[in-house]
Amino acid sequence: PLLDPLPPLPAFHAALGLSIYAFLATIYLVPALGEAFIKARLFGRDLLKTYDTPIPESLGLVCASVYILVLILFIPFAFSDVFLNDYEDRSKHGLVVAEFPHQKLAVYLSSILSLLIATMLGFLDDVFDIRWRHKLPIPIIATIPLLLVYYAERGNTNVVVPIPLRMFFGTLVNVGPLYYLYMSLLSTFSTNSINILAGINGSETSQALIIALSVILNDLLYLPWPFGVRIPLHLLGGHTEFNVGGAWSAGMAYGSRELVERHLFSLYFMLPLVGVCAGFLYHNWYPARAFPGDTLCYVTGMAFAVVGIQAHFSKTLLLFFLPQIFNFVLSCPQLFGLVPCPRHRVPRFDKETGLLYPSKAVFKKRPSTVATVILKVFEGLRFVKLGVNAETGLLETTNLTILNVFLVNLGPMKEDSLVKVLISTQAAGSVLAFAVRYGLAWLLYDG
Ligand code: UD1
Ligand code: MG
Repeated sequence: PLLDPLPPLPAFHAALGLSIYAFLATIYLVPALGEAFIKARLFGRDLLKTYDTPIPESLGLVCASVYILVLILFIPFAFSDVFLNDYEDRSKHGLVVAEFPHQKLAVYLSSILSLLIATMLGFLDDVFDIRWRHKLPIPIIATIPLLLVYYAERGNTNVVVPIPLRMFFGTLVNVGPLYYLYMSLLSTFSTNSINILAGINGSETSQALIIALSVILNDLLYLPWPFGVRIPLHLLGGHTEFNVGGAWSAGMAYGSRELVERHLFSLYFMLPLVGVCAGFLYHNWYPARAFPGDTLCYVTGMAFAVVGIQAHFSKTLLLFFLPQIFNFVLSCPQLFGLVPCPRHRVPRFDKETGLLYPSKAVFKKRPSTVATVILKVFEGLRFVKLGVNAETGLLETTNLTILNVFLVNLGPMKEDSLVKVLISTQAAGSVLAFAVRYGLAWLLYDG
């Protein structure tokens, strides 16, 4: 059957309008509530400034509240076509004929449930500083409702095998339960990876903003545009023509109604997130008047996991996390205790020059052979600078974060310059992600 040329407009307009409202509400509420947060002892010192004024922290709670309330307000609009059809049925037949799409409601409700758990966890972490081993499993549990919905939809658990390996495994391997494990780990990754790439003004918020914009751009590719715009991807290196108006033309691999619905869902969740993050960035930008706290990192991270799982594009989603993946892999020796990990790994601020320098972790005892080898490799790759003593061996290393990698390679710089470097890297990562997803996928996969 032919599809509607456009998404149900009331829903789309509502999503757009509510996102603008979310933006304005955040811009207004963050400074208005800052005092109250300081009174409740929710504040932090800006580690990279000369002044000591308390900066309200955990304002991510305001962002999360606005975001979730706006999403809840949106739910009836997502079903506007159902209401319209029911109305028509009733006026024609005097009764309601069509069945209510409970499945779709389950998608929305389970998503909001996961976001609420993430908000609660993030806020508890801000208040109590939860230990790593305690907070890691919580996002995993928070995804269970999402996974059940995925199961109910008979979501795919196949992995497409890259062409060179097909003689061993065939084209498709069904990894079954492992795929569910992977999806639940995705939520732990997306929530924590933004949190450990933090500590300079605007860093957490801008990461979330760029990832959300990238997801939106990706969703737009799947919508049935009225003019059936076509992007000839073979010109970019791909061997298929990617049809932006996919849903319109029958017979294309892209373009089932389900696919459009899923990407609309993702769009509806990402638009208000952009609104909230953009509004908050205004106050979090250098010099920050408010800190996001772990709450913002958790809720944005969970929002990405939600759309990745519910709209079935978790692998594409991971491509938008390239800087976070790099930062996580680099951090592993510190996260898993091979290299000492100070409470704060943010760059070091020099009061004289006003510039940021790489911060260091000092070895209290001789590092293990494994740690030494890893650090030497990192040094060869220009990820760290090591302090060595001829007799006793390794003395210190720069902290294993992407922010320090920038400072080691580009030299000391001001805080707002560093956040701009981070933003450019995140944006470049997204460009690369699109190139890999739509340009190079044919190298490994056909179609
Ligand atoms: C994570 C990082 C830690 C980093 C911290 C900074 C790991 C394993 N943990 O810890 O290395 O130092 O985030 O957020 O990588 N702050 C600023 N400027 C900012 C944002 C935060 O100075 O722009 C400071 C403030 O003092 C604020 C504190 O960082 O109070 C918040 O730290 P918190 O989010 O509690 O740290 P973690 O997430 O545990
Ligand atoms: Mg944090």
